[in-house]
Amino acid sequence: MNVMNYWVLLCTSSTVCCAQSIITRGPYLNNSDTKATIRWRTDSPTNSVVTIGAATYTNSLQTTEHIVKITGLTPNSHYSYRIGSTSYTFPVDTNYHFHTAPVSGSYVRPVTVIGIGDFGVSTTAQNDVENVLPQQADVWQWYGDNAYPIGSAAEYEAHAFGPHYRNHYPKLNLLPSLGNHDAVSSSPTTQTGPYFEYFSLPSSGEYGGVASNTAAYYSYNYGHVHFIVLESTEAPFRSATGAMANWLRQDLQADKSLWRVVYFHHPPFSKGSHNSDLEIDMVEMRQNIVPILEQYGVDLVLTGHCHGYERSHFMHGFYGTSSQFNDSYRLSSGTGFPEPYQKTNKGAVYAVVGTGGVALKGSGIHNAMATSVFNKYGFAKMTFTRDSLWFQFIGTDKQVVDQFIIRKVQPCPDQLVFSSPPHLGTQSFEAHLTITSTNQTAKGSAISYSAGKSVELKPGFSTSSGSIFQATVGGCNPP
Ligand SMILES: [Fe+2]
Repeated sequence: MNVMNYWVLLCTSSTVCCAQSIITRGPYLNNSDTKATIRWRTDSPTNSVVTIGAATYTNSLQTTEHIVKITGLTPNSHYSYRIGSTSYTFPVDTNYHFHTAPVSGSYVRPVTVIGIGDFGVSTTAQNDVENVLPQQADVWQWYGDNAYPIGSAAEYEAHAFGPHYRNHYPKLNLLPSLGNHDAVSSSPTTQTGPYFEYFSLPSSGEYGGVASNTAAYYSYNYGHVHFIVLESTEAPFRSATGAMANWLRQDLQADKSLWRVVYFHHPPFSKGSHNSDLEIDMVEMRQNIVPILEQYGVDLVLTGHCHGYERSHFMHGFYGTSSQFNDSYRLSSGTGFPEPYQKTNKGAVYAVVGTGGVALKGSGIHNAMATSVFNKYGFAKMTFTRDSLWFQFIGTDKQVVDQFIIRKVQPCPDQLVFSSPPHLGTQSFEAHLTITSTNQTAKGSAISYSAGKSVELKPGFSTSSGSIFQATVGGCNPP
């Protein structure tokens, strides 16, 4: 039983409890390695208290919009929490927990990300996607058009919150972006309206990255992955010489993460329900912003807006219209699975994931796309290991509709630890000192470990039939 229903039931049989608050939204949260912000709404004003173990974090403001900022957390650690006020605490809920990120910039373990776009409509399809959306992930991303049709407060309450994602909000690290439908009621220029009122976003660089000083665009780290959220709905933000572009260059220049992912609403490449050859918001993001992303080695660009799934080739330097695309822009003749794309100093994949619930639409094929699917609802799932980015688009039948892997040779590490996801394709892993693994090798894969001191295969490690595995002492030398 969730908390909201619990209190509603009590209030039907008692007048005493009705003097207390009822949770009418959330809780929902975002977090970094040492910080978290937990929010919820109540029907009547109180102060705000979050309890984690013996620690309490209090915001003394009397409000119905509760915002509690938590600092001093231990990286890569699990926390259960409770919420309430100084006069009462809401009942324990098994969904009220979160996991802090590994130390910003460090690699400790794989990082998992899920993402949805174009979902806030309260359709059966939205529920179908919600039902298969994992409840465990390190980051939950929204690619815009979170509440249709105009992103009003009432629509956010009905279509984004309300009955939706109740098992996801209390425990997933939610970091959204703004869509054009949201922007009807919210202004990125003034940072006003429901979108900006409902979310506390890391605009001061408090989760890693350079401070943007605006919630319209921002960046954050989760362990060894750097994420950038851009604003694409208003023209001044899309300028190559505007404040957002200038901040973007600074942020990318300062970043030392092993992987870089950027997301925003309007896709630079699409022939889905919108045409990137013609529509100015898409043209400007492609011509003004994509060259900056490529200049600084961004690996993956995620968007929504078009109501289908489209995913590009592994490519570089293409800023034209669909008919101008040719194989000279491709950095691989493959599709990235099962053989990974190999990235040296350039190359990115562009994915459109406008499949979260609004009616699917589109039938055109953009020439830059490796895959275009206009009849499947679903979500994006990403797993970032030290050396690989594994992307999957998963449908409401839980089947993988499309997937690819980007592999990068990273500087020689002292040690490597593998647990998941299973090794795929042909991959060689080298460490200066040790490799420890409880991982599995997938069917048909060819995997090698080489370390200078030892390779330890611990209980849980296994090889699938038809796979090739070898371990050697050798390794690599740090730069
Ligand atoms: Fe849109």
